[in-house]
Amino acid sequence: TNWRLFALMTALLVFLSGCGREEVSTLIPAGKVAQDQFNLLILSSIVMIFVILVVSIIYVLAIVKFRRSKLGDDMIPEQVEGSAKLEFIWTAVPIVLLLILAVPTVYSTFDLADVTAMDSVNEEGEQNHLTVNVTAYLYWWEFEYPEQGIVTAQELVVPTDERVYFNLISADIKHSFWIPSVGGKLDVNPENVNKFYLEFDKPSSELETGVFYGKCAELCGPSHALMDFKVKSLEREEFNEWVAAMQEEPEPASETLAQDGEEIFGNSCINCHAVSGTGPAGMSGPNVATFGDRNRIAGYLEHDEETLKNWIENPQEYKPGNLMPDGATNNGGEPFSEEELDALAAYLMSLTVEE
Ligand code: CUA
Repeated sequence: TNWRLFALMTALLVFLSGCGREEVSTLIPAGKVAQDQFNLLILSSIVMIFVILVVSIIYVLAIVKFRRSKLGDDMIPEQVEGSAKLEFIWTAVPIVLLLILAVPTVYSTFDLADVTAMDSVNEEGEQNHLTVNVTAYLYWWEFEYPEQGIVTAQELVVPTDERVYFNLISADIKHSFWIPSVGGKLDVNPENVNKFYLEFDKPSSELETGVFYGKCAELCGPSHALMDFKVKSLEREEFNEWVAAMQEEPEPASETLAQDGEEIFGNSCINCHAVSGTGPAGMSGPNVATFGDRNRIAGYLEHDEETLKNWIENPQEYKPGNLMPDGATNNGGEPFSEEELDALAAYLMSLTVEE
């Protein structure tokens, strides 16, 4: 039964590490940062396995070779006091092993924290690298592109094959920014800005899911596990198109149902949620400018109108402790009717900047 337990635990570990899911697996790195971290992981694993093997072999040899003989041998074995050779070996070997671990670790640590090129500009005074300001809120994420003047919530869009710099700050308590297959897991604090960079070495359209998944990696409250966001990496040209589309004024809703929804939204939701991609940052709720382009609602729910209506009515059931109250009401102070919910859902789903 021990073996069965062992097999079960192994299966559980493999399942938990998300081994086969390249959109969210640290074991399938999709960029320089994740690759460096992965290499350190492999290096330290090899060193640790080596140590375990050597110690185990010595241990088993000692047990077998020096066990008490069957005939009741009471003779005291040879007593050794001090051995310069042995002491040299067991001091030198750990030092060498620690150096093998320490040198690449220290090098990578400084390399991955190097943000000196962050604010560098070219001859025209434009920034050489894209910078994204990330703000963590209780259970959702905001991404502001200061140079481009645009804001998104819950979806980070980045160009591939270049360095992207991040400023991380929290609006409330400590969170941690992590895109498992690309890197990170850097604390997001309310009192200081943490800076680092990532590189995305392939477009997310190559993934089965079409997006990478990002997570909060710091236990922050009842909905910590649901504090997800999606990451789209686009070729530079496509990225520029996306930025241009975001910078345009949102078009008024064209369908009648969505038009009704727009009006309801304007009366009931606009106090907390901006609609324009260039709208004000730092509102209490996520900007919904790209709602129709998202593939999750609230970071993890199915992206369809039925789910959306349920979410609007019972946000606390799906994401306990988030700031959106249950029982949202319309202009007249009444709970939303089925028709009003339909209209709101149609409107939100019509908000899109992608083709
Ligand atoms: Cu935010 Cu966990």
